Amino acid sequence: MILGRPGAGKGTQGVRLARHLGLVHFSTGAILRRAIGADTDLGRLARPFVEAGELVPDEVMVDLVEHALATPEVVESGYLLDGFPRTAEQATAFLARRAGTGSLDAAIDIDLPADEARRRLLGRGRNDDTPEVVDHRLAVDAEESGPLRALLQRDGLLVPVDGRGDEDDVFARILTALDPHRSRRS
Ligand code: AP5
Ligand code: MG
Repeated sequence: MILGRPGAGKGTQGVRLARHLGLVHFSTGAILRRAIGADTDLGRLARPFVEAGELVPDEVMVDLVEHALATPEVVESGYLLDGFPRTAEQATAFLARRAGTGSLDAAIDIDLPADEARRRLLGRGRNDDTPEVVDHRLAVDAEESGPLRALLQRDGLLVPVDGRGDEDDVFARILTALDPHRSRRS
């Protein structure tokens, strides 16, 4: 899993890390944006939340991720989740369902100060990157992330990584930080 406040670099680093490790990359935000674009049932449900920078309800997200991870390709290659879990409730439900599968190695936590995250997002210009929605996304994250991190920390999964600096530097830090977790697995 890869965590971090909006704009921390989850997508940028997640795509790269998944390629490096041969994992399937899942961004829950990207899945929701595709569903909204295609106007599916999921898209119609998610749209008002995503546009406002609110979280889509936990039950919807937990089911969505469970389904996404059930494909043969994912079972074969493994996965990297970007943007999930976002709440302690999502993490609890997810970990309970995956218990004993040995399928979760680490939760990479990219730490970037909020003012820098905000700058990056306002320079990008996705539909939900207006100043008001960015501020709301950051505020929602600030509320949820404490309990979420505490839970993952308690389970020994949290791998903190400094998100400042350029993309290559952050990627190198992620690989170094993951090293002990990867050897523990093999
Ligand atoms: P989501 O798509 O996950 O958005 P987010 O968390 O707000 O994060 P972003 O995707 O904006 O940022 P990022 O951390 O991926 O950074 P990025 O690499 O793009 O979620 C969107 C919405 O979907 C939510 O608000 C919610 O409504 C819903 N949702 C999704 N998951 C959910 C869940 N589990 N539960 C409930 N609701 C959910 O980088 C940002 C910018 O910075 C880019 O322009 C990038 O090029 C640039 N950049 C990256 N790294 C660097 C660097 N090192 N230096 C300079 N610039 C950089
Ligand atoms: Mg992203």
